[in-house]
Amino acid sequence: MHKTAAAVLAISTLGILLVTPAFIPATQAAGEMPDKKTCGTTKNPVVSGGCLATDKAKGNCMACHNFDSLAQAGLEAGDIGPPLVAMKVRFPDKKKLRDFMWDAAKFNPNSSMPPYGRHDILTEKEIDLLLEWLYSL
Ligand code: HEC
Repeated sequence: MHKTAAAVLAISTLGILLVTPAFIPATQAAGEMPDKKTCGTTKNPVVSGGCLATDKAKGNCMACHNFDSLAQAGLEAGDIGPPLVAMKVRFPDKKKLRDFMWDAAKFNPNSSMPPYGRHDILTEKEIDLLLEWLYSL
């Protein structure tokens, strides 16, 4: 890895560790950084979706995408994919967004986005929760 890239990665990882607790909001608003403490228990589909999106073992969406809540928390995000904004406007047809999440290669054969459904990275239920979160962005 390039030295600068390694440094940026190290700094941003440290940043995540140090900054996260300070930015966890007392109440959860739509599209905001989920409070990791509530991730296991929340019944709010938007929060659950946000938890999945920012879980490195699940969606890990911030590896490639930026989104509002990350910027608010002062965290670094990848820019391999476009920023996730105005999802309802970009994808008025929720089914199309779901199909995209299921297998982005169907829309772009060279897509570097993981085919979350086709490769069983996420379950049907998890993809539905992600959609709720995406529509809140
Ligand atoms: C390895 C990189 C990578 C990861 C991880 C990734 N994506 Fe993507 N995503 C992309 C790329 C690249 C595109 C641009 C379109 C394409 O090439 O398919 C994209 C496009 C998108 C789009 C369409 C955006 C638009 O405005 O057209 C959405 C929505 C999206 N990603 C959501 C997600 C979500 C949600 C996650 C996490 C569950 C995620 N992505 C994880 C790389 C990634």
